[in-house]
Amino acid sequence: MRSESGGSGEAGATWALLVAAGAGERLEIDRPKAFASLGGRPLLAESLYRLDRSPWVDAIVVAAPVGWEEPAILLTEELAATKVVSCVTGGAARADSVRAAFEDVLDDALVVLVHDAARPLVDDAVIERVLAPLAEGYDGVVPALPIPDTVKRVDRGVVLETVSREDLVGAQTPQAFLAPALRRAFGRDLSEATDCASLIERAGGRVAVVEGDPRLLKVTTPADLALVEALLASS
Ligand code: CTP
Ligand code: MG
Repeated sequence: MRSESGGSGEAGATWALLVAAGAGERLEIDRPKAFASLGGRPLLAESLYRLDRSPWVDAIVVAAPVGWEEPAILLTEELAATKVVSCVTGGAARADSVRAAFEDVLDDALVVLVHDAARPLVDDAVIERVLAPLAEGYDGVVPALPIPDTVKRVDRGVVLETVSREDLVGAQTPQAFLAPALRRAFGRDLSEATDCASLIERAGGRVAVVEGDPRLLKVTTPADLALVEALLASS
């Protein structure tokens, strides 16, 4: 299903796909994670508002959970998020939701940002960081942070080995892509892709890494929600 949001619908060079269609099983509440309460409004509102007000973003497509398209559209209206072109129904896996949203991106788009609604605290500084390498020959860019914990490979509860974390990072969103590179990547098998950059990597594309942001933590559990709420209140 595709629902026009009533936004201006004007195209631009840089599009943002805001994926919010997950069930949020690990949050264990009575509604999808995107509609969990964060400071009194739906979690989705925070990233939607920030992307809409970003000077780097021209147009937005939201991927909403099945049956939650109308609440998503109402939210865009409440926020006066006029860059939202449409709210589409997400798919079974995250990559399916990204693909569904990407179908509404116009052919003349140059750059596509893909962002998890589960990371509410997106800001212009990280958007600027992920966009920069696209002008230097990269197909995609991920914001990432070093992994603070010791990392171990395990099998059925037993440690197989300790993995050097020196060259490991944790990838966040927003991730930025040249639109044609993302289009090519979606022509391939999407299974097992937990982020879009991995699709580009598998298609042989060049993906740069830039500094992420600790505030871009992903809300997964109730404790994460409380943490983001505290960060939001202190900012
Ligand atoms: N997502 C999506 N469509 C899916 C699965 C995930 O749009 N089929 C989005 C989520 O809404 C979230 C982001 O991808 O913004 C990251 O996914 P995750 O944190 O795993 O969220 P959920 O899948 O909703 O949570 P859980 O895995 O606990 O069910
Ligand atoms: Mg998930």
